[in-house]
Amino acid sequence: MKKGDLLYEGKAKKIYKTDKPAELWIEYKDSATAFNGEKKETLAGKARLNNEITTLIFDYLQKNGVKSHFIKRLSETEQHVKEVEIIPLEVVVRNVVAGSLSKRLGMEEGTQLQTPIVEFYYKDDDLGDPLVTEDHIAILDVATPEDLLVLREKGQEVNKHLITLFDTLNVRLVDFKLEFGRTKEGDILLADEISPDTCRLWDKETNQRFDKDLFRRNIGSLQEGYEEILSRLGGASCTK
Ligand code: C5P
Repeated sequence: MKKGDLLYEGKAKKIYKTDKPAELWIEYKDSATAFNGEKKETLAGKARLNNEITTLIFDYLQKNGVKSHFIKRLSETEQHVKEVEIIPLEVVVRNVVAGSLSKRLGMEEGTQLQTPIVEFYYKDDDLGDPLVTEDHIAILDVATPEDLLVLREKGQEVNKHLITLFDTLNVRLVDFKLEFGRTKEGDILLADEISPDTCRLWDKETNQRFDKDLFRRNIGSLQEGYEEILSRLGGASCTK
């Protein structure tokens, strides 16, 4: 497979065409951003860590029957994926109160939720990715009520599998963000990445953070946190 023209460059990844129809080449970048790009740094090794962690997680989900755009890891920082048209909604699943939920509802960070909740955010940098209701989504015309049911169900299913996975690693899955896309045939597939950039991951015993809050809140080394997650996931096996 040959890498083709650059299709899109985002904050954390570059996406290229390939010589295969409907298949793309993703390159992770060493850049870390937060607060809608206001805080920005180059952090050596971040691309490799997110690529390896996403590879292990998408492989695990695929083995558990969750279909995604992921085809295979190509190198330390690159992946081969199926082309999808991204639905401009961020699907956030929460097991524990943290981050914007804590701020919005005045609930203490770390409070366990009785059942997981799902939220939708409209992907729009100019608007700062606002939280949207199902009625907002209807007037934005980005997904049908049936699509939203599918996104909710898939979000809950991914949550169930990831809780099981992280439980064995002594990690508390606090919350995470998913993105989905449509194939030309109209299937909805899990897309983008699942990494410590997109999840909150706390050590079960010490509450130590291993995720992007290390960078957002300046509370430690992002690379050390992500390296810990990769090593608990058994990362040596995917660096071959
Ligand atoms: O900031 P907030 O508490 O809403 O984030 C919820 C979860 O979604 C966190 O795990 C965060 O890392 C993730 N997220 C993300 N990309 C965004 C917003 C949130 O990965 N643009």
